[in-house]
Amino acid sequence: MDASTPKPQARAPARPPGKPDVELLPILIAPHKTLKTRARPIAKADAEAVRALIPRMFASMYAAPGIGLAAPQVGALLRLFVVDLMPDNKPQPMVLINPEIAAASKETAIREEGCLSLPGQYAEVERPAHVVIRYEDETGARRQVEAEGLLGACLQHELDHLDGILFVDHLSALKRNMILRRLAKDIRQKETKNS
Ligand code: NI
Repeated sequence: MDASTPKPQARAPARPPGKPDVELLPILIAPHKTLKTRARPIAKADAEAVRALIPRMFASMYAAPGIGLAAPQVGALLRLFVVDLMPDNKPQPMVLINPEIAAASKETAIREEGCLSLPGQYAEVERPAHVVIRYEDETGARRQVEAEGLLGACLQHELDHLDGILFVDHLSALKRNMILRRLAKDIRQKETKNS
């Protein structure tokens, strides 16, 4: 982000990130039905479940390690994701609840992406270069973030997860199938090693 762009509103999670007493959540690996399912909006009645989920999602993301994790990746079909790009190695956690793209540039940017649900797999993905995302934070306050660069790609990648879209879905069927086959093979090899 350039200096004229407002900084995302970062808030500390309910508990410090990665605190060892927070139980880690297993991250679903593709192909998994939940990863292809659209998540539902979070309502007031979900407040307690969401409050419990957020510190566990942060802990799981930091442990992975990753810079973003969406609720469907831990089996919760709720419109929520957490992000922390750790600028200068300092935590800058963001929680985005019911996020929506308010504006997206026509100009696109290509970045290499990976995903905790497709471990070890990377590909170049083309997305709008600049986005404005509206969301609620964990207090229910309405917020807006303008992002480009790594944060812009990360926010769009995580928002996609809420609609059952993985980064490989932005690629040609040929590339997508190659990556999914390679992932399946990597997992089989790991299982053989561990058995
Ligand atoms: Ni992902």
